[in-house]
Amino acid sequence: MKKRKMKLYFSLNGAWSFFYAPNPDSVPSGFENPDFSCSGWDTIPVPSHIELNGYGNPQYTDTDYPWDGTEQVIPHRIPVKHNPTGCYVKMFQIPQYMKGKRLILQFEGVETAFHCWLNGTYVGYSEDSYTPAAFDITELVKEGENKLAAEVYRFSTGSWLEDQDFWRMGGIMRDVSIFALPDLHMKDLDISADLDSSYKKGILDVRCTFTGTIPPGSSLAWKLLDGRIRMEDIAEREEDIILSGSMELNKNNLSFHQEITDVKAWSAEIPYLYRLVLLLHCKDGQIIEAVSQDIGFRKVEIRNSILWFNGKRLRLNGVNRHEFSARKGRAIGKEEMEWDIRFLKRNHFNAVRTSHYPNQSYWYELCDRFGVYVMDETNLETHGTWHTRNYDYTLPGNFPEWRDAVLSRASAMLERDKNHPCIFCWSVGNESWSGQNLFDMSMYFRNRDKSRPVHYENVCHDRMWGKTTDFESRMYATPAEAESYLKNNPEKPYLLCEYSHAMGNSCGNLHEYTELLDKYPQYCGGFIWDYIDQSLYKTGPDGKEYLAYGGDFSDRPSNFNFCTNGILCGDRTISPKLQEVRYLYQPYRLFPQADGIRIESLQLFEDGHRYYVRWRLEKEGDCLKSGSAPLSIKAGETAFIPVDFSLPDEAGEYVRTASLILISDTPYERAGEVICFGQSVECRTNNSSCHPDIHATIQTVDGDSNFSVIGTDFRITFQKNTGKLISFHIGDLELVYDPVNTLKPEFWRAPTDNDEGFHMAQKCAVWKTASLYPEVKQTVFRSENSTALISILYDLGNGASCQVDFQIDSLGTMDIHETYHGLAGLPYLPCFGLSWKFPKVLSRVSWYGKGPEETYQDRQSGGYLGVYETTAEHSISPYVVPQECGNHTETRWVELTDTKGTGIRAESSVPFEFSVLPYTCHEMESARHHYELPAPYATVLRLLEAQTGVGGDNSWGAWAHEPYILKGDEDRIFHLRIKIVRNNNGQQ
Ligand code: GAL
Repeated sequence: MKKRKMKLYFSLNGAWSFFYAPNPDSVPSGFENPDFSCSGWDTIPVPSHIELNGYGNPQYTDTDYPWDGTEQVIPHRIPVKHNPTGCYVKMFQIPQYMKGKRLILQFEGVETAFHCWLNGTYVGYSEDSYTPAAFDITELVKEGENKLAAEVYRFSTGSWLEDQDFWRMGGIMRDVSIFALPDLHMKDLDISADLDSSYKKGILDVRCTFTGTIPPGSSLAWKLLDGRIRMEDIAEREEDIILSGSMELNKNNLSFHQEITDVKAWSAEIPYLYRLVLLLHCKDGQIIEAVSQDIGFRKVEIRNSILWFNGKRLRLNGVNRHEFSARKGRAIGKEEMEWDIRFLKRNHFNAVRTSHYPNQSYWYELCDRFGVYVMDETNLETHGTWHTRNYDYTLPGNFPEWRDAVLSRASAMLERDKNHPCIFCWSVGNESWSGQNLFDMSMYFRNRDKSRPVHYENVCHDRMWGKTTDFESRMYATPAEAESYLKNNPEKPYLLCEYSHAMGNSCGNLHEYTELLDKYPQYCGGFIWDYIDQSLYKTGPDGKEYLAYGGDFSDRPSNFNFCTNGILCGDRTISPKLQEVRYLYQPYRLFPQADGIRIESLQLFEDGHRYYVRWRLEKEGDCLKSGSAPLSIKAGETAFIPVDFSLPDEAGEYVRTASLILISDTPYERAGEVICFGQSVECRTNNSSCHPDIHATIQTVDGDSNFSVIGTDFRITFQKNTGKLISFHIGDLELVYDPVNTLKPEFWRAPTDNDEGFHMAQKCAVWKTASLYPEVKQTVFRSENSTALISILYDLGNGASCQVDFQIDSLGTMDIHETYHGLAGLPYLPCFGLSWKFPKVLSRVSWYGKGPEETYQDRQSGGYLGVYETTAEHSISPYVVPQECGNHTETRWVELTDTKGTGIRAESSVPFEFSVLPYTCHEMESARHHYELPAPYATVLRLLEAQTGVGGDNSWGAWAHEPYILKGDEDRIFHLRIKIVRNNNGQQ
């Protein structure tokens, strides 16, 4: 038997007749009645959002209630003028096989509330957009055509409890169905699949509740199947039955208890499932109802302020996930969920918080099967009732009139989801302040389900209600704040329900958080904010689709691009931030060294049998030797694999890389993939220096206005009064597109989203003007022996100065020293170095440094040191608002050439940073969307001694941490050599 959707199930998904009214008063009167004709109405797909089908606009607000500023925000009241209302009608006939049975109509998610009617008769009302609403319609269904009508409100009293930071959209956005039930029906199945204190024995407690009359002689038969590890939903086989039993049924509830010695426990690492099948028989043996449920045996505990899972201290490598897609909004389907679970598993996320509402049921099924720990969160947020710090009407507070509405959300979630092994804790909701009602909700969870702890964050602002949560949960605490709790006798396990705000170019200093996991067992880890950008497709002014953000739909009020904080872009393109997260969430750490590889397992349960080790020794990307070795490592232990990693005598820099490679395909990863890696770098004494090679006497021309250095195949010319490099000619190729922007000191970057939150532009604006308008104070041009010496002194307009010295030899090689003298009182420097605007034909890039994705000083652990190639256009990262991107740290050299291979190479004995983009930082900064940028017409190379990190603790004030900031009062020196690269034939 294969587990399938129940047979007595009839989907009402698909095309529904639809009428869009701006508010409930404009709804066509009596449209629910059978004699009302909907001919002429549009059709709309169910499930979907109304606003993504061309009716009205989606609106993005963070904490504000969305009608703030258009209608008064009065407690209890909802907007009357603008409350888009969808009138939905579906005609259907009940299939033959369901006739004569009890029929239940179920809406799995409708935003935010609805009334419904069947054949003109009122059926009911529901709110709570993310848990199912079910109605018994047995008496209302008739032979032939039936008319189901629903009136769906974008705003309702429920909206007061659904003030999550997301797109405000309405509609029937999850499945609608009718299912048939037998007279005698198992109304509830409540399974506890626990472990004993040795974590070896499974303890199964099953409680069933029935409705309907029990015919005499009825019985319940059950069997427990060993499901093995089944990420895919596979067939059930008789030989997998490990236990079975049956019992007479003579009352409407029943329970049984079983113990399984040497049970295989469920965990995210080994998601071992069993399947319980229950069969309700009548006297003659016929099956009345069959129910099956996957089970995972596991135990969650909090002891000594530590979170334990199956007896092991748990580390959560988590992420907050909104259900979202740029095309469908929150009405995602199975395809997106299956993509997501594979993505999470491939990239070492082991935990998800369903921020901030219960997800579609299929998601929990996937998390059970693939292995992901889930924090299941109640659909509750009331941020707009307290964000102004006026607590007069903070919901749900202690208001008795809101108690049931709030608690019913919790019970709807718990009762729907309780049997999923993946759920390790219940969350009371998000950002709803504190009070009796929330505390009562937490007690409801605790009393109803003793197997899971309860989570809530907001009471950290109001300690009076601290008992609402079993964790000390915080959002966006800095690593230092987290540590100060952890080292002072922590009362509870500490977790970061939101951290590393991944808005735009972010996720800096993530390693400072993951390091805390090694230091403090009371730290459970955290959930990155967040999984996917909430950007929506829209047609731009150029007629092409782009990923739009708040405000792009004329939606006001709006919080604009604050909805785009994902590791993934809205279209599920992977953002460069993943490189870092994937590395820091690795389940193994690898340390290659001269005599072998030390491997540390962070796994709690799984040994290393799925991987082997691959290693290589490289010199500047050239592999000198490589090999592989089997891996034998137990969970949580350290192994050492001897490898001949000795270095040759030749001077130079050598890189040792060790990786764990997957041996066989899994449902989410192909055999041969690199799962984890580690590198080490060692130098043999290097004689190379940064002084020009002396080749031959150089030829210089010191003219009235220009100073040139001429070689056999090049000419380099400076304008004497401005100090500008006006020409760099190699054969026929001119490398200077724009002398104003060539080899000019660079202090600026296009502000990142985190920079904007920090008001970097306001604080550091002097560095923008210093980059744009430095004043040349003094120039020196002379030749000496076999080199030309050029010196340019810039006044930066803020009291500081910067000097750039060039020393050019007969091959056209330029040794550059750039010096900045710090000055007290000057603000932080976004970066320090040089930039050069080349003609577009130079757009091929290769480099030896960290890659392949962009890296920054505070986000480079996940970069491999190696030799890479890319192009200028490919180096633009897909952050919705153009901003600083494409940087590479730890660079030893970078080459920029045309397609024939002619161009330049910049190198230094001290690793530096660079980026190659088709735009200057000022062009990037001036665009709020990518379509505002011109078609690429040039290539901008930024060569930086250093750049301030990207930060990421939050995007509303935090910045990069101290070690990754360039201070204005410190001196800086940049030492670089630029060489001509001739094409492969040695020609220009
Ligand atoms: C948190 C909130 C999230 C999101 C985030 C900022 O306060 O819980 O929903 O708004 O800030 O992106």
